[in-house]
Amino acid sequence: MGLEVVILFVALSYVLGSPTPQPYDTIVIGLGSAGTTAASTLARAGKRVLALEAQDRIGGRVNTVPFGDGLVEVGAEWIHGTQHSRVYDLAIANNVTLMSQDSEFEAYRSDGTTSDAQLVKELMMYCLEVADTPSEEQEALGHYITRKLNVYLQEKHPKILENQDFMDSFLKFMNFIINSYEATNDWNDVSAYTKYESLEGNQHMSWHRYGYKTFFDILLDKYNNGPGLPTLEIKLNTEVTKVTWPQDPKENVIVTTKDGTTYTANNVIVTISLGVLKERYTTLFSPELPQKKITAIDKLTMGVLDKIIVSFEKRWWGDALLDFFLLWRPEDLKDLPKDDWITKIGGISMPMGSNNTLTLWLNGDVAKLVETLPEEDVKSKVVELLRRFMGHKYTIPEPTGMIRSTWFTNPFTRGSYTYDNLDVPNHPTARSDLEAPLLDSAMKPRVLFAGEATNEKHFGTVHGASETGYREAMRLLPNDSNV
Ligand SMILES: Cc1cc2nc3c(=O)[nH]c(=O)nc-3n(C[C@H](O)[C@H](O)[C@H](O)COP(=O)(O)OP(=O)(O)OC[C@H]3O[C@@H](n4cnc5c(N)ncnc54)[C@H](O)[C@@H]3O)c2cc1C
Ligand SMILES: *[C@@H]1O[C@H](CO)[C@@H](O)[C@H](O)[C@H]1NC(C)=O
Ligand SMILES: *[C@@H]1O[C@H](CO)[C@@H](O)[C@H](O)[C@H]1NC(C)=O
Repeated sequence: MGLEVVILFVALSYVLGSPTPQPYDTIVIGLGSAGTTAASTLARAGKRVLALEAQDRIGGRVNTVPFGDGLVEVGAEWIHGTQHSRVYDLAIANNVTLMSQDSEFEAYRSDGTTSDAQLVKELMMYCLEVADTPSEEQEALGHYITRKLNVYLQEKHPKILENQDFMDSFLKFMNFIINSYEATNDWNDVSAYTKYESLEGNQHMSWHRYGYKTFFDILLDKYNNGPGLPTLEIKLNTEVTKVTWPQDPKENVIVTTKDGTTYTANNVIVTISLGVLKERYTTLFSPELPQKKITAIDKLTMGVLDKIIVSFEKRWWGDALLDFFLLWRPEDLKDLPKDDWITKIGGISMPMGSNNTLTLWLNGDVAKLVETLPEEDVKSKVVELLRRFMGHKYTIPEPTGMIRSTWFTNPFTRGSYTYDNLDVPNHPTARSDLEAPLLDSAMKPRVLFAGEATNEKHFGTVHGASETGYREAMRLLPNDSNV
């Protein structure tokens, strides 16, 4: 072909919307927060990008679905912190009005009586503050919090320390709250000694009726009927099974999908979760990963956090935005089968995107178990739980619908997010080893790694995942790119 013909052909295929000719500049694997940030950053800088996503939707561990009289979040729900948050900043820059979820609290005991909500809240806030201040020592988070709480109570409320029943039920409740932050089974599985840092500012900013999915629309320039990004090609329902990377700087990276199709690019950014990497790293990469990265994949852990979201004909709990605290009394636990999973539920919240729904939170082993239980069994247990705690105050009808998350069963997440387990302080470079790109013989990065697990300070969050996508995009762009 003569040059004019080539130009005509390229122009025509662009106009007709045909696929970009290979090789691509970059292939991004996975379109969660990290992958969508990486792909859109590169595409906005003019790079030709192919994004391959195994599921039938964009968002990964963010999943906004219509439910009740509005929207609910099956995955991430809040923006945790507003200072230097890529997520918050992007929302504000696009005139999205976020709302702070300033819930009021009601506290109930498992015999249906109410507990002192102000006291429970005061102690909870104190414990969360402790949790947010890393310990100087290598110790388990539960021990650390309990130790500090005892000192606090000695000073402020010495009488409470003598009330063994209250202390037992409060510590069980607090264990639940910590597990709901950490996606863990027990607060003593978490290291109090950690590099994790919260962003400053409000920890519970909600996308309410916009839905967290709006973050992805903004990134991809689809928000408010935006035109999208012309040099970004997206393929959904496309599971990657192999990444073959070269030592020779003149060769391409080859990405193979489940149906046997291959795509080539100069480099590839892998954003799949730690849970999926654990399951697949031996077959996913050719040649195999360096030992340091394998050790990191091995030593870090993926936690599980799930939601059961139920809808009702109409709200039965009044107009306030509430959190319900559920305090199990030691004696009521004796009457129930020891493995009854409802005894592991300690709190209920209200989605801000829907007015007639409630969210029950599950973590760790109980979350994994409930993912496998039949729909009707779960629903009847939920009603049993609500009526046991709140049935004296409210008349609680049958739910009209239910959605459950299945983040552990999902083969493309295999869990909810990572936490720092007790062994992580002994492997202080694990997250940076996971981040390190694979280089060719000319020391050029060819396989790059993003995703929340690769963020030392902000793992387990949407903003943290987005930071890693931006980080890897910038590794590939010239230093003076203005994106
Ligand atoms: C229940 C729950 C509540 C949460 N609450 C909050 C919250 O309130 N605030 C907050 O900041 N964070 C929260 N998080 C954490 C947050 O959702 C995650 O940290 C973040 O979304 C992870 O983004 P990521 O891009 O690293 O990974 P992912 O979102 O998992 O993206 C990876 C993508 O890769 C795809 N993929 C996997 N394997 C393949 C393959 N072989 N081929 C192609 N594609 C593949 C997956 O389908 C997925 O879309 C919550 C998470 C859960 C589960
Ligand atoms: C946001 O609102 C301001 C003021 O009304 C306007 O100037 C700006 O263009 C808007 N930005 C977007 C992205 O819509
Ligand atoms: C939901 O409830 C809030 C508070 O009562 C109200 O402001 C809002 O308009 C309601 N939204 C819908 C769609 O019913």
